Amino acid sequence: MHKDVERILYTEEELRRRVKELGAQITTDYAGRRPILASVLRGSYIFMADLTRAIDLDVTVDFMAVSSYGAGTVSSGQVEIKKDLSDTIEGRDLIIVEDILDSGNTLYYLMDVLRARRPASIRICALMDKPERRTKPITADYVGFTIPDAFIVGYGLDYAERYRNLPYVGVLKPSVYEK
Ligand code: IMP
Ligand code: MG
Repeated sequence: MHKDVERILYTEEELRRRVKELGAQITTDYAGRRPILASVLRGSYIFMADLTRAIDLDVTVDFMAVSSYGAGTVSSGQVEIKKDLSDTIEGRDLIIVEDILDSGNTLYYLMDVLRARRPASIRICALMDKPERRTKPITADYVGFTIPDAFIVGYGLDYAERYRNLPYVGVLKPSVYEK
């Protein structure tokens, strides 16, 4: 285990199993359709790679990047689109793939922006959900794991751009960000 990690929350194996289940659920729910999976970078990149391979449909993928955090552990509430989707989504079934739904700021803003482009449908698939921290009225349609209020890293999730490469999801030692 990494020295900055307090404890492992989900092992590689647990993540693998749950992502497979999410993929199977999406495959069933979207049978006969061709959804666009839109990954919100950077935190969801590993989840996205595994999730798309667990979906047995004629999907397409797209990517966008937003920022709201800086180097802190709490959302600034300010959301900025750093990179937009490449494809048009009008009339398409869109599934937004996020790493964590925390305060809800990011997705609340993003949903507004994307809805205005008139897709046929929009759903949110979040690997992690921290409902206790929510300040905006937003829920995910697909959730990998519901977790308590702790700052987690690994499997794509970072603190100040570090730890994304850890194969598991772990709770970061508070001493790392309280310095
Ligand atoms: P929200 O706008 O507060 O819902 O924050 C969403 C974004 O904050 C996520 O997409 C993550 O990038 C980041 N985030 C929130 N909680 C954590 C965490 O525990 N670890 C790493 N990133 C987090
Ligand atoms: Mg993110």
